[in-house]
Amino acid sequence: MLDLVAEHAPYRGELLTAFERVLDSGRFVLGPEVEAFEREIAAWIGVPHAIGVSNGSDAILLALQAVGVGPGDEVICPTYTFFATAGAVARLGGKPIFVDSAECCYNLRADQVAAKIGPKTKAIIAVHLFGQCADMDPILTAAKKHGIPVIEDAAQALGAKDKGRQAGTMGTLGTFSFFPTKNLGTLGEGGLVTTADPDLAEKVRKLRVHGAKQKYFHEMIGGNFRLHELQAAFLRVKLKHLNPALEKRRLNAESLIKALHDKWGAVMPIDSCVCQGQGTPNEASPGTISLPFSCHSGEGEHTWNQFVIRVAGEGGRDALREKLAAKGVQTEIYYPRAIHEQECFLTSRRSFPVASMLSKQTLALPISLYSVEGVSL
Ligand SMILES: Cc1ncc(COP(=O)(O)O)c(C=O)c1O
Repeated sequence: MLDLVAEHAPYRGELLTAFERVLDSGRFVLGPEVEAFEREIAAWIGVPHAIGVSNGSDAILLALQAVGVGPGDEVICPTYTFFATAGAVARLGGKPIFVDSAECCYNLRADQVAAKIGPKTKAIIAVHLFGQCADMDPILTAAKKHGIPVIEDAAQALGAKDKGRQAGTMGTLGTFSFFPTKNLGTLGEGGLVTTADPDLAEKVRKLRVHGAKQKYFHEMIGGNFRLHELQAAFLRVKLKHLNPALEKRRLNAESLIKALHDKWGAVMPIDSCVCQGQGTPNEASPGTISLPFSCHSGEGEHTWNQFVIRVAGEGGRDALREKLAAKGVQTEIYYPRAIHEQECFLTSRRSFPVASMLSKQTLALPISLYSVEGVSL
């Protein structure tokens, strides 16, 4: 799916220089590289505070902890997402309250969030899935009405926009992952928390180092959630190349959409966005391939972290996957099981039909910087 060796080849020299700089500095933990990276990424995103952390899963945990989520609290989030979104809630003793997905962009149904808010709701997590922002306005309006913080899980969506606003700047806090497959991937693990609120930023900084501002004097219980100097140095190199990389992804997505339409008759899954409840999905006969849909009437900016199609009908997705594998095209399934159907979350007996359908029908095709030209459909 992703040829990271090829992707890094053009700036191999810069990465080796970054490695030598850290090696020669003798500083490996929370030093000048992390500080510089935090300044540079905050400026790139356009957010006052950016805190480098261990990974995207811990970033969500820290954001939830910063807004006070604890045992018994409810947190509204999608069920069709990576496990970490809901996993972080449960790690703090909270309860994820799931929302179904929209058939347009596969993000959470923004119009259903308000109805889930209750006396125990402590936060809302909006995930920007596959590189495209969730429809934030209805979520932000509902949250504001009830005084509830919104966390944007932007792990897959660095650089995405909703109505001109960058992912990670719209909610109370934003969280990002630098896992190698992400828009900005490091050579290992890394994550980020963003916020405009200086008090929350200070809290996350403390939680990152066992809740202590002054070493060995602990104001709260945090953990070791530090971003490594070496990873920060690599991220600084890759950040310089992020804009052209995002543009390349966009162009790759355009060519894939055209190729799938022309050669396989792939269609748009829907005529207009249903994030707010209106619109009817197209009736798809078995085997029909649905293309990824860019939501919000052109007011969003997709970053194509993943290029995810959908194949209608029982077994259609798996048959296509086998056909592509025979041609040497690697694919991936994000995600074969929604979170409410996972063994460790089976206590939730509600059904989320769109999420369950997506887990049986979606297939991610290679979109990475160097693989698309080589894909023969
Ligand atoms: C939506 C989402 N949230 C959180 C994460 C967790 O990030 P990490 O793997 O860096 O812990 C991921 C990573 O795949 C993700 O896709």
